[in-house]
Amino acid sequence: MTFTSIQRMTQQNRQWRVATVPNDRLSASNFTLETADRPEPAPGQVLCRVLLISIDAAGRAWFQADTYRRALRPGDVMPGFAIGQVVASRCDGLSPGDIVSGDLGWQEYAVADGTKLDRIQPSRPLPNYLSVLGVTGLTAFFGLLEAGGARPGETVVVSAAAGATGSIVGQIARLAGCRVVGICGSPEKQRFLTETLGFDAVVNHRDPTLREALRSACPSGADVYFDNVGGRTLEVMMGAMGHGGRIVCCGAVSQYDTNAPMVGVRGVPGYLILRSLTMRGFLLSDYLPRYGAGLKVLERWLADGSLRPMEEVLEGLEEAPEALVGLLNGANLGKRMIRVAAQA
Ligand SMILES: NC(=O)c1ccc[n+]([C@@H]2O[C@H](COP(=O)([O-])OP(=O)(O)OC[C@H]3O[C@@H](n4cnc5c(N)ncnc54)[C@H](OP(=O)(O)O)[C@@H]3O)[C@@H](O)[C@H]2O)c1
Repeated sequence: MTFTSIQRMTQQNRQWRVATVPNDRLSASNFTLETADRPEPAPGQVLCRVLLISIDAAGRAWFQADTYRRALRPGDVMPGFAIGQVVASRCDGLSPGDIVSGDLGWQEYAVADGTKLDRIQPSRPLPNYLSVLGVTGLTAFFGLLEAGGARPGETVVVSAAAGATGSIVGQIARLAGCRVVGICGSPEKQRFLTETLGFDAVVNHRDPTLREALRSACPSGADVYFDNVGGRTLEVMMGAMGHGGRIVCCGAVSQYDTNAPMVGVRGVPGYLILRSLTMRGFLLSDYLPRYGAGLKVLERWLADGSLRPMEEVLEGLEEAPEALVGLLNGANLGKRMIRVAAQA
């Protein structure tokens, strides 16, 4: 398909909107697929054809409360980070054909302010720019090395270890000379992490003897815990930390798919005091001025094969709701995304 033929294409725009706010677990019926007119860009904006949509655990948390974005309400187009191709531009510096990334949402076409988009000049397959070379890779990189301060010889534990962020955290920890322990939710994922990604040990958070499994995987205690899940796993990890250990709160996916998240964490402040622990959170945007430097290192690791991109590309906009529901239930291995259209 030529680029000109795309520009002439349909005037319609299929989009997933929020139908209802979930009462408990998210289901595909909380979304409705609607057809709207293809939007026109205003001055300063571009019209993009959406190519690849990132499916993120945080998408469920956006229903729970106002955070860095307003809580989702019925009628909203489901937001989502995505890669798109500019179809029409009223913005200096962006031209038809350019590849961009930003919050384009779960839809076929999106208008966006040019200032809110990043231009990508792809030298690698586009999915890499949603995994290692995107938000996921940067979160793992800065979260582990800056917020967590992981150093050679230390034991790093990471939860949701076979997911998008966790699988990169574990690989970077190995590159940094750390001993790596993963926490994940199935024996298949455990095998994959040890046999393919070279984790030193992997435990299953569904194991009733998780506490003992973690203690034997970290006999001297963990130096860094990169926490993607919060909840019970975080409580158990408090007791598996070594003296002076650092807990990095990246996310709390175990508490997203509910309207009654756990209140507090047992062991805070008890273990913080007894083991001189530090617990800190971070948002990737804290590191915005240094994205370029982080990306240079991640690109090098990808190019020389040190980092293996873990990507699952599902085909078709129709798949988006089930893809998010599945991810919250642990169906994904690595970074899950939806291909909406091919690059022209
Ligand atoms: N701080 C930031 O700036 C920032 C930026 C990006 C992402 N994040 C956070 O990073 C975390 C990972 O997000 P992601 O998009 O990369 O998702 P992901 O890890 O690819 O997928 C989520 C995984 O969570 C695991 N999970 C689900 N319920 C669980 C439970 N009750 N207990 C333990 N594990 C559970 C599942 O794996 P199993 O099969 O192993 O259970 C699932 O595959 C999220 O908390 C997200 O909010 C933070």
